[in-house]
Amino acid sequence: MLRTHTCGQLGEGQIGETVTLCGWVDSYRDHGGGLFVDLRDRYGLTQVVFNPPDSPPEVIEASKSLRAEYVLQVTGTVAARPEGMANPKMETGKIELRVTGFELLNKSLTPPLSPGTQEVPGEDLRLKYRYLDLRRPEMQKTMMQRASIIKGMRNYFAEQDFIDIETPVLGRSTPEGARDYLVPSRVHEGSFYALPQSPQLYKQILMIAGYDRYVQVARCFRDEDLRADRQPEFTQLDVEMAFVDTDDILGIIDGLVAKLAKEELGIEVPTPLPRMTYDEAMERFGHDAPDLRFGLELIDCSDLAAKSGFGVFSGAVEAGGRVRAINVKQGTKQYSRRGIDALTEYAKEFGAKGLAWFKVDENGQLAGAITKFFDAPLLAEFAERLGAEPDDLILFAADKFPGTCKVLHALRTKIGKAMKLYDSEAMNFSWIVEFPMFDYDEETKTWQAMHHPFTAPLEDNVALLDTDPGKCRAQAYDLVINGSEAGGGTIRIHDAEIQKKVFTLLGIDEETATERFGFLLDALQYGAPPHGGIALGIDRWVMLFRKLDNIRDCIAFPKTQKAADLMTEAPGKVDRKQLQELHIKLDG
Ligand code: AMO
Ligand code: AMP
Repeated sequence: MLRTHTCGQLGEGQIGETVTLCGWVDSYRDHGGGLFVDLRDRYGLTQVVFNPPDSPPEVIEASKSLRAEYVLQVTGTVAARPEGMANPKMETGKIELRVTGFELLNKSLTPPLSPGTQEVPGEDLRLKYRYLDLRRPEMQKTMMQRASIIKGMRNYFAEQDFIDIETPVLGRSTPEGARDYLVPSRVHEGSFYALPQSPQLYKQILMIAGYDRYVQVARCFRDEDLRADRQPEFTQLDVEMAFVDTDDILGIIDGLVAKLAKEELGIEVPTPLPRMTYDEAMERFGHDAPDLRFGLELIDCSDLAAKSGFGVFSGAVEAGGRVRAINVKQGTKQYSRRGIDALTEYAKEFGAKGLAWFKVDENGQLAGAITKFFDAPLLAEFAERLGAEPDDLILFAADKFPGTCKVLHALRTKIGKAMKLYDSEAMNFSWIVEFPMFDYDEETKTWQAMHHPFTAPLEDNVALLDTDPGKCRAQAYDLVINGSEAGGGTIRIHDAEIQKKVFTLLGIDEETATERFGFLLDALQYGAPPHGGIALGIDRWVMLFRKLDNIRDCIAFPKTQKAADLMTEAPGKVDRKQLQELHIKLDG
């Protein structure tokens, strides 16, 4: 080893010892007589001092050429810092290393971003010079916590007798509903592998093969529009179990949540985690991954709205829609008229046609432009339903049910954050269960699988597949952390008849089913056990555990919104010869 200690290790216990450290020059200050350097490695910072009398003159002279990010090996004596010079913010702040000699291991060009400064550089620069960005202590903390979370997950599952099995990356298209990344085959002209959107089909096959507790840290690839919480390649903690029901799977994950919350965050999370049905979540919060750190629940006023002379309200109800509201407590203090206008514009981004509102005056009466459409008794009914108190601001969405969900969820989220309705350090874990089997696509007039086509309906909902598929609920569950979908899974269909029915509803004919999933359908006929599973989004867990806003900050080498890697410049052009081998001709 080139060093005896790390830069985060030394304290009063080592005073008087001779030690050797290696690291990067985080910062340096020339104090005339000598140089003070903060030396950095991933364990911390240590102040190293090039000063007489400890440092000989030639060492002091040589130290003058040191610059930011130079790599050093320094040897010296650990000493207490002089009276009043201790730095309580630094782990090693009570001591310094008085240098007796050093070796310059490497120089650095002037870095385009300084890992040693507090301010966060622009993201393009960070991604291009990722090796410098990854030197920043914040990034190093995240990478170390990521490793620790993954290790905790692996240990937990290993202790419970799960076995880790790898599945192929080059395979057939899998059914998660995003666009595939394709890889052309050289050997099979005109044929393509698809990178897995998840190991879904393989893990089901493993259940049929008798490996009843499977786990894998699996890389998944989805070519879809990217957002702050979405990457084109991301990592799942993928799990599948045989001979289980929903409670068994949720129980296993409850245990994992409790363990990691304790180990990583030092908090006790009582289990079982609370569960809420999808229908209740949509009714109370307008979203299937509600942020339960705060209230601000949606209040249905459709019956009252129908009785009013306000066309926006009565019209929405007549058209089969709903009128729902949120009551922002003390909201008039936060939102002036201009503030309400800004909320209206924001609501419009989510498809609202407008944003009707009441404010509550000091006597507890509803006030505002739209009150003229209601008589006094009806206003009193609204006030009671809404729990109106002085200074409340009440915001309405009048639309079809999904429209009201979208708008009020967006407003609830924005206002919850702006008015600090929750402790930003709080963690909320919960389950949303019993998702619909299908989503109706108005454009194509077809049913789509809400999760994937192998999801089993609730046992007492099977008949609805024939009579009212829209009402049919699934044995499906999502883990929600602070309003983010942190995991999702289902109990699978293991009955060929039900599977056929689901394919028919999804418009997948027998030929297509055979061509896409024939191997799974075959396997299901050779003694498939009842089985189910879940996948957790590891990148999102890291993001939520570290209270970060951006998934790119949780991944060592992430891609931009446009799915590019700015450091390696992937994707890149390839030679004509490579294309020829792959039997590919480019357009133009
Ligand atoms: P699902 O598609 O819900 O389920 O994915 C599981 C979890 O993975 C995370 N996730 C993502 N994270 C980052 N970037 C993305 N593009 C991205 N897409 C998904 C989310 C999500 O909850 N095979 C099924 C699981 C199963 O049924 O067992 C599946 O992949 O946190
Ligand atoms: P209008 O009748 O269009 O002038 O709208 C009267 C009030 O109702 C305004 O405050 C609008 O912003 C609001 N409004 C219009 N359409 C809707 C809607 N679909 N949901 C909620 N508020 C609306």
